Amino acid sequence: MRNTILTALILLSTLICKADEGMWIPMLLEKYTIEEMQQKGFRLTAEDVYNINRASLKDAVVGLGREGRPFQHFCTAELVSDEGLMFTNHHCALSMIQQHSTLDNNYIRNGFWAKTKAEELSNPGITASILVRMEDVTEKINNRLTSDMTDEQRADAIKKISKQLEEEAVAGSNLQADVRAYFNGNQFFMSVFKIFRDVRLVGAPPAAIGKFGGDTDNWSWPRHTGDFSLLRIYTDKNNEPASYSSDNVPYKPKQFFKISTKGVEEGDFTMVFGYPGTTTEYLPSFAIDRLLRFENPHKIAIRTAKLNIIDQAMESDELLRIKYSAKAAGVSNAWKKWQGESKGLLRFKTVENKQKLEKEFIEWSKSNPEYAGIVEKFAKLYKESEPYILPSVYAREAGLGGSEVIGFARTCHALLKNSKTSPNILKTAESFYKDYDVATDKKIMTELLKLYNSQLSDEWIPEEVKKANEKGDIEKYVDKMFAKSIFSDFNKLKIFSAKLHEKSLAKLEKDPIWKLAQSIYEFNSSKIATPLGKIQTQINSLNRMWLAGLMKMQTERNFYPDANSTLRIAYGKVGGYKPVDAVYYLHYTTLSGIMEKENPEIYDYIVPTKLKELYAAKDFGRYAQNGDIPVCFIANNHTTGGNSGSPVLNADGQLIGINFDRAWEGVMSDMQYSPEICRNISIDIRYALFIIEKLAGAHNLIDEMTFAD
Ligand code: ARG
Ligand code: GLU
Repeated sequence: MRNTILTALILLSTLICKADEGMWIPMLLEKYTIEEMQQKGFRLTAEDVYNINRASLKDAVVGLGREGRPFQHFCTAELVSDEGLMFTNHHCALSMIQQHSTLDNNYIRNGFWAKTKAEELSNPGITASILVRMEDVTEKINNRLTSDMTDEQRADAIKKISKQLEEEAVAGSNLQADVRAYFNGNQFFMSVFKIFRDVRLVGAPPAAIGKFGGDTDNWSWPRHTGDFSLLRIYTDKNNEPASYSSDNVPYKPKQFFKISTKGVEEGDFTMVFGYPGTTTEYLPSFAIDRLLRFENPHKIAIRTAKLNIIDQAMESDELLRIKYSAKAAGVSNAWKKWQGESKGLLRFKTVENKQKLEKEFIEWSKSNPEYAGIVEKFAKLYKESEPYILPSVYAREAGLGGSEVIGFARTCHALLKNSKTSPNILKTAESFYKDYDVATDKKIMTELLKLYNSQLSDEWIPEEVKKANEKGDIEKYVDKMFAKSIFSDFNKLKIFSAKLHEKSLAKLEKDPIWKLAQSIYEFNSSKIATPLGKIQTQINSLNRMWLAGLMKMQTERNFYPDANSTLRIAYGKVGGYKPVDAVYYLHYTTLSGIMEKENPEIYDYIVPTKLKELYAAKDFGRYAQNGDIPVCFIANNHTTGGNSGSPVLNADGQLIGINFDRAWEGVMSDMQYSPEICRNISIDIRYALFIIEKLAGAHNLIDEMTFAD
């Protein structure tokens, strides 16, 4: 009896918890998700969230991108006024804040607040996209695919048909369309966007608030980061997208979020509405096993070497701190995530769990022969891929993406080859050298060349990388290379590009840094990426069949498509968690906690004087709760990279927070989500408002927003 009750309870709890997993497609809410959301407390309808005929919440959600690849949203933002004002994270706007910063006007250190619209700062290249509508184009694509196509032919056909559908969908309009695969290529949806090109920086707190806790607290809870900033969309006079112009006017959105300052309690419904980038929840065990044994440990080691050098440079000099702050945050972010991910995957036995599922699948496929042999084929292909994995990691992490000058040399070469004019090169060079420190980069190159040579067997090391090692002293070799190269010094590059002629390209191709870059690039594409790509194409097609099979086998399971940078909804509830035995973490943090963490000796834990004064005076305005200011809270919404800056909404669809991170113990959720341990971290909107009103005195911005309560 006890056993049956226990099993029933466990079953029930997994069923209930499972439901918090997932990133759902807004246009399918009505069909699949809304009932469940309403059971959990949501008080709006599917039509309130996504509607193409009238204003709905989706019209207030913005994907931030870059010109040239606007659909590859790097963060999310949300509109909060009828003048195009929007919130996102501090870390999402960091490169914009950094671009505008100098030693005299150090907005990273001091924060930035535009007191009038005229003071707002433009950010060329940044795009803001708003979803106009979505369409299921699965049949339109599948109808034109045939079963006798090879994997490559199929992929080509999909590309071609997608392009055609995209063009048809937006012909004669200023919209842009993007078709993407869902469920490992079993379904296809098209998203149609309006993409704005004039996005300005309106406000950002000092890094001691916006990045409080820095890379030390990154990916962890309890957290006290005021990770928010404010941007504004500008349009032409007709409220339509336009490139930056001083004549542009603030965007009048169809919809913006009202703000609730009521706060959250444990168990409250929350939903995150944004652009999650990539998850891989349906990978086979072999992929996770490979990741744990090869990719993650080496990627981590390479970045550890790089970060040690950058951190030292930043500690030593204030200008270097400005130059490297955004870059260092980027390098450190993935580095730390991979560590948490590996830990979580091991702790939650993801490989073993997946192996169990695969066994079950093999059994099931005995009576469903069209799915027979998939697992075995996976095993074979992953085995075949193994020798290429480390060479590929080193080519990308220690080679092409290692020392900065390597990427820069390649960019210059491409510019010269394609455009043959010096202004282009000079413009790119200027922005490169603004944040470049040759001494730091030299150290990085030296360390990474050492690693490259020591970790791989000879056959996997590109010629020029080997050469650096042959004389025995890599440091000297790098010194010489930098002395000779035109890329190590802006002046040399200026002289070079001042008198370009037919032989310039040939001359550039003799440059030692370019030769190194090219050697790695060529080696990687011919010896690694090409064969690996062939294996991956076969794996992709297996992935498609595997997931189609799983969906037939697990009829009870509510499947959701992996994140792919399209608009999604995650919902769940506010709640603490138990990170380790005997410890329970509460669901929120407070300003008092910031004072507890304060340490003037450590850059990441410096608290601005003004914040301390407000704290001492308890000058909290309407944002206090229990005599303190709430700072961050956690919930079990299923999120990933790209969800940064996403609006966190309450049961009435009002803004209560801004998503910015996940908690350490659950970072493996990109591959295995676990409701009891996976938590997304949001800044409580009241903390952001408190900073804007009390610390910055930017009443102009508060006055623009609408409060629900
Ligand atoms: N971990 C968060 C994300 O993935 C925040 C990253 C920025 N913060 C930082 N300290 N590097 O984007
Ligand atoms: N900080 C991440 C981002 O930039 C969000 C955190 C996550 O990966 O969940 O999108």
